[in-house]
Amino acid sequence: MTAPSASHQLLGQALMARLDELGRVSTDRERLNRQPYTAAHRQAIELVAGWMQAAGMATRVDAIGNLIGRYEGEDPAAPVVLIGSHLDTVVDAGRYDGALGVLAGVQAVAALHDAGERLPFPVEVVAFCDEEGVRFPTTFLGSKAICGTLDPKVLELQDQAGVTVGAALREFGGDPDALASIAYPPGSLRAFLEVHIEQGPVLEAEDRPLGIVTAIQGQSRLAVVLDGMAGHAGTVPMGHRRDALAGAAEIALLVERRCSATPDLVGTVGRLEVLPGAVNVIPGRAMLTLDIRSPSDLVRSQAVAELVQAIHGIAAARGLGCTVAREHDQPASVCAPGLQRVLAQAMRAEGVPVKYLPSGAGHDTMAMAAACPAAMLFVRCQGGISHNPLESMSLPDGDVALRVLLRALRLLALPKAKP
Ligand code: HGY
Ligand code: MN
Ligand code: MN
Repeated sequence: MTAPSASHQLLGQALMARLDELGRVSTDRERLNRQPYTAAHRQAIELVAGWMQAAGMATRVDAIGNLIGRYEGEDPAAPVVLIGSHLDTVVDAGRYDGALGVLAGVQAVAALHDAGERLPFPVEVVAFCDEEGVRFPTTFLGSKAICGTLDPKVLELQDQAGVTVGAALREFGGDPDALASIAYPPGSLRAFLEVHIEQGPVLEAEDRPLGIVTAIQGQSRLAVVLDGMAGHAGTVPMGHRRDALAGAAEIALLVERRCSATPDLVGTVGRLEVLPGAVNVIPGRAMLTLDIRSPSDLVRSQAVAELVQAIHGIAAARGLGCTVAREHDQPASVCAPGLQRVLAQAMRAEGVPVKYLPSGAGHDTMAMAAACPAAMLFVRCQGGISHNPLESMSLPDGDVALRVLLRALRLLALPKAKP
């Protein structure tokens, strides 16, 4: 691998320093938590917009809260190459998930700007408002809006405080009535590239800094509510109980068993809330979430159908009321082969061994594939840890990711370049 030049080192260092700075923009003091349409989201937009402007970009915030920076091309009318990722985080997050893709785009444009270089096409960098789907029971709000595939009904979805997407967006200064104005016109996007930490152990295990994503597995998210009977923990005999938490526990173990027994299938009960939540009260209500994923849409849909049936069976056997809401279904997505080839060519040109791998995590790239060829460059992360403050990546890996991204942009600028 060629040693980074001094200017590149500076780029890599600036990238890591800015990731640290952005990683401190949070609603909570003790942990990274940056949800859409919050003060932290606004603060992050202002910070990143300043960096975009310093890199010669004109910036705007669209009606759904995406921040977009535009670096003009020689031909302003040419289809845009869009680089980006999400600005929102999970709760108690690491500082690289999402932010890396946004700031890698900013730093790549900064390198072009510093060199006084213009590409034949405009380059835009986007910081999507919501990918994680943690505050509201939906995901890809920003990328789907940009693709014109966002269902306006999501505006009625509520967060745990009962605030709807539309109300939060309006309060934030967005315009729920202008969703149609966000979509890029058909044919105006040439490609979408997302740089993202792998969030898994493969690159580290093979001692590789980067990988090209072949496909992103599909995902289903469900919300289950079980209603039993709250009661006195001391007086109600075990055989007389309708314990909602016990039912939820049986469901969680069923998800683990069913998914462990099936290759290429993963299932997670990520959230469990118990009411009233007192030490001496039999839980009357339990709310839990399911996240089911597979590279095969058939394997995933079969598992979801079986689990939903089994959940109703468990509830009936325990005399529990039960509702199961399907909150999100995203088919598996293949990354654009032509863009994969450009990334491979860029890696070889930068002396980086080419590696292909699938993504277990979902990404905005899945949504963007509806509007243009979309592909991802994975960066090694220590221990494969993510969705955890221990998430980390190295300066050399950040630097080589930037060099490959820049090289890919310049390859796309060559006259015969395809995607
Ligand atoms: O859940 C995911 O896969 C992504 O981090 N939103
Ligand atoms: Mn992410
Ligand atoms: Mn994530």
